[in-house]
Amino acid sequence: MNERADIVIDTGSAEQTAAAGRAVGRCCTAGDIIALQGELGAGKTQLVRGLAEGLGLDPRQVSSPTFVMAQEYEHTAPPDGRPILVHIDAYRITSEDDLTSIGWHRRGEELREGAVVAIEWASLIRPVLGEDLLWVELRHESHGRRLLLSAHGSWSAKIQVLSELFRDAGLSHRFSGKTSGGGAEP
Ligand SMILES: Nc1ncnc2c1ncn2[C@@H]1O[C@H](COP(=O)(O)OP(=O)(O)OP(=O)(O)O)[C@@H](O)[C@H]1O
Ligand SMILES: [Mg+2]
Repeated sequence: MNERADIVIDTGSAEQTAAAGRAVGRCCTAGDIIALQGELGAGKTQLVRGLAEGLGLDPRQVSSPTFVMAQEYEHTAPPDGRPILVHIDAYRITSEDDLTSIGWHRRGEELREGAVVAIEWASLIRPVLGEDLLWVELRHESHGRRLLLSAHGSWSAKIQVLSELFRDAGLSHRFSGKTSGGGAEP
């Protein structure tokens, strides 16, 4: 699955996975969807902690949303226009009613207003997520974890910036996404 990822990073520690999340958070804007897929303990929540930090939020707010389908993490300082983070555990979502109860309608427009949305177990609700998202697959490997990132929709235009942010953070990775200046999307 997902062998044509745009970026592949091997993280040797939980801190490196958080660092990857921080870089992703730095290039997010309101409305963005970060879809996370990976088995139990793969590091999805760890990546969301970094994501929160990258958005300027306190990563200590982030916990596995056990028994809750969705949590919102807000800025402690007065609102300044930066997006908040909505953290969804799709594992808990078993019906259309569940989606409605967390405020997800159609492509989640309402929930995404002023927020970045991170979804654990995203493949369980893949059809409702649409085609504008960053897909992150996390795998257990002998060295730690392998993160495979695939850009969809507007993320194609940001994936090179993300690669540069990873490089700046000292995260070695393989980049095979489109570089800018390559013309329009087919
Ligand atoms: N390279 C690594 N990246 C991420 N986590 C790592 C790594 N090495 C070790 N860990 C540990 O693996 C665990 C990952 O847990 P985490 O809760 O983030 O997983 P998860 O994918 O959210 O699991 P769940 O499916 O239960 O929600 C943590 O205890 C973390 O410290
Ligand atoms: Mg988790």
